[in-house]
Amino acid sequence: MSNYHIKHLEEYYQVYRESIKDPENFWEEIAEEHFLWRKRWDKVLSWDFKKPDVKWFEGAQLNITENCIDRHLQIRSDKVAIIFEPNNPDEEAEHITYKQLHERVCAFANVLKSKGIQKGDRVCVYLPMIPDLTVSMLACARIGAIHSIVFAGFSSTALSTRLNDSDCKMVITSDGAYRGAKTLDLKTIVDEALETSPCVESVLLVKRIHSDIKVKEGRDEWVQPLLDRVSLDCPPEIMDAEDPLFILYTSGSTGMPKGMVHSTAGYMVYTAYTFKNIFQYRENDVYWCTADIGWITGHSYIVYGALANGATTLMFEGVPSYPDFGRFWQVVEKHKVNQLYTAPTAIRALAKENLSFIEKYDLSSLKVLGTVGEPINVEAWDWYNDNVGKKNCPIVDTWWQTETGGIMIAPIPYVTPTIPTYATLPLPGIQPALMDESGQELKGNQVEGRLCIKFPWPSMARTVWGNHQRYKDIYFSTFEDKYFTGDGALKDAVGFYRITGRVDDVIIVSGHNLGTAPIENAINEHPAVAESAIVGFPHDIKGKALYGFVILKEVGESRIHDNVRKEINQIIAEHIGPIAKLDKIQFTQGLPKTRSGKIMRRILRKIAENNFEDMGDISTLLNPEVVQDIKDNCIE
Ligand code: WTA
Repeated sequence: MSNYHIKHLEEYYQVYRESIKDPENFWEEIAEEHFLWRKRWDKVLSWDFKKPDVKWFEGAQLNITENCIDRHLQIRSDKVAIIFEPNNPDEEAEHITYKQLHERVCAFANVLKSKGIQKGDRVCVYLPMIPDLTVSMLACARIGAIHSIVFAGFSSTALSTRLNDSDCKMVITSDGAYRGAKTLDLKTIVDEALETSPCVESVLLVKRIHSDIKVKEGRDEWVQPLLDRVSLDCPPEIMDAEDPLFILYTSGSTGMPKGMVHSTAGYMVYTAYTFKNIFQYRENDVYWCTADIGWITGHSYIVYGALANGATTLMFEGVPSYPDFGRFWQVVEKHKVNQLYTAPTAIRALAKENLSFIEKYDLSSLKVLGTVGEPINVEAWDWYNDNVGKKNCPIVDTWWQTETGGIMIAPIPYVTPTIPTYATLPLPGIQPALMDESGQELKGNQVEGRLCIKFPWPSMARTVWGNHQRYKDIYFSTFEDKYFTGDGALKDAVGFYRITGRVDDVIIVSGHNLGTAPIENAINEHPAVAESAIVGFPHDIKGKALYGFVILKEVGESRIHDNVRKEINQIIAEHIGPIAKLDKIQFTQGLPKTRSGKIMRRILRKIAENNFEDMGDISTLLNPEVVQDIKDNCIE
C-alpha cells in the first residue's frame, strides 16, 4: 500500500525519508493505486537538470479527464462536483454533479472538434469564474488540445501577446463578466486583442451578462446552439504521459511572459496527492479555493487536484467585498465549506473591516484554512486563526509556484505543527536546498539562503513554450544542477522553512506576480518619459505596492506632472492590466546606476520604503549624487 494519505507526524517523517531514499518507488506506488491508466509506464523517471529534461511515467497513456470525471461515475455519479456561487448572492447557486459535468465536458469537447480543434492545438480560455471556464478547460484536455487560460483581468495587449506566443487557434470568451457591482466587457478586449493576433481563427462565446455585443460573422459564434446539437458523449483522446496538458503564463523579470508548460501524468499525480494531504479532504467535504482559475492555484486546486479526488469544489464568481465584506463568510455558511484556501491579500483586506461582518455567520463547518501566493504576515495569520478558524483550524501556509505545478512546502493539517509565517516542511518527494551566493549549499538548520529544489518532482513545468533555452537560463543556470525558485528562505532550528520573499525582479502585488521589466517598458512608451524604474514597497493590504521612479525628457509644471502620472497608469492598465498600476510616481533627474549601467534597485527600494538608513556603499555608483536628490524628493 502506498502512503497516499498521511495522518500523523511520525508517519510524515517516515514517508518523507522513504520518498527521498527511493523517489521512483514512492511515486510509482501512488500512481499505481490511485489513478486510471490506459497503458502502464515503462520508466518512472528520467532526468537531467543540465539540459534540463525531466520525464515522469514515460510510456504511460491516460486521459486526465477520465481520472477527474469518468472514473467517479460508478460511485459518485450524483455527487456534486462543482458548486457555482454567483457574483450576486440573490442568484441561485448551481450544483453540477459528476454525471452532469461529464455530459457538459463531452458536449463542449465535441463542439471544439466540430470547430476543427485537434490534439496539440492551443486554445485560449478568457472567461470569468463561471462553470463554462472549468468545462472548457476540461473539454480541451478531453481531446488533447492544450489550454492556455488567461486571467480575465488582463488587458487586450497582454492577451494578444499570450495568444501570439503560443499560436492559439481559438479563444473561448463571454459577452462579459460580473465583478462585484461592476460588469466587465470581455468581448471588446478580445476584439482588440485579435486585431494583432491573426493566429486566432475562431471565437466561441458564452452568454453570461446578456449584453449586446458585436459578433463577427465567420469568426465568432455563440456556443450554446452548438452545444445543443452535439452528442453528450465524447471518447477521451489517449495521451502520452508527457504530452502537454496546458500552458500558463507567468511574469518574469524580462519583457515577455513565460508560457510554463505542464505535462499530463506527473501533474495529475502530484496535484491529486497534495490536494488530499494538504486539505485532508474527506469524501463528503465541501472545499473552496477562492483563487481565480486563471492562475495556477485555480488550475491545480480548484480543478485538477480536487476533481481527481472526486471532491466537491466550489467556484466563486464574485469578490470578497460584494455586496459587503461579509460575502466570504456568507458563502462558507451557506455551503458549509470545510476547507477554505485563500490569499494573504484577501485576509488583510477583510481583517481591516469590522468583525461584525464575520460574527453574523456560522463558520463551524471549517476544518482547514489555507493560504498561498505571498508571505503571510503575523497579524494576518493571527486574524485568520482567531476569527475565521476560531483557533480550531490549522492554517496551512502553502509555498509553491506556477512553475512547480503543485504545493511544495506546507504543513499537513492535524499532522505538522503550524507556526505563523512558516510554510514548515517539504512535502514527500520534495528536496529543497538553501544556497549561498557563491553557489554552496547551506546544509543543516538555522541557515538562510536562496531556495532551490535539487531533485525532480512529478508536477514541475517541463519547459517554457517555444523557448527551452529560456527555461534553462532562468531556472537551471543560477545554481548547478538545481532548480532555482527565485525566492529566499530560511530554515529554523528544527528545519522548518520560512519563505522570505522574491530575490529577483518580480514583485508580488495582491498576490499577482509582476515583473518589473514589462511595466517599465509600458511606462517608457509615454512620449514624455525618458527612463523609469519600479520597485515594491510595503502596503497594508496588497502586501507590496509599486513605486515608480521616472525621468522625464523635459521637466514641466506640477500640473503637467499630474497628468503624466495619470497617463502613465493608463498606459500600464492598457498594456498589462489595472493590477499593475503604480501607487506612487516620483519624477527624478536620474536613477542610481552601477558603472556597467545597471539600475541599483536596492537603493531605490530603500527610498521607496522611506528607510534611509543602511543604504550600503553608494560610492561605487556611476552617479552617487542622484541619491540625495531622490531621497529629498521621495514620496511618503
Ligand atoms: C510567492 C502561486 C511565501 C513566492 C502558487 C513564489 C509565497 C511566488 C507563498 C509564486 C507562500 C507563493 N509564502 N511566498 N506561502 N506562496 N509565494 O507563480 O514568491 O503565482 O515564488 O504561484 O509567490 O507565485 P505564483
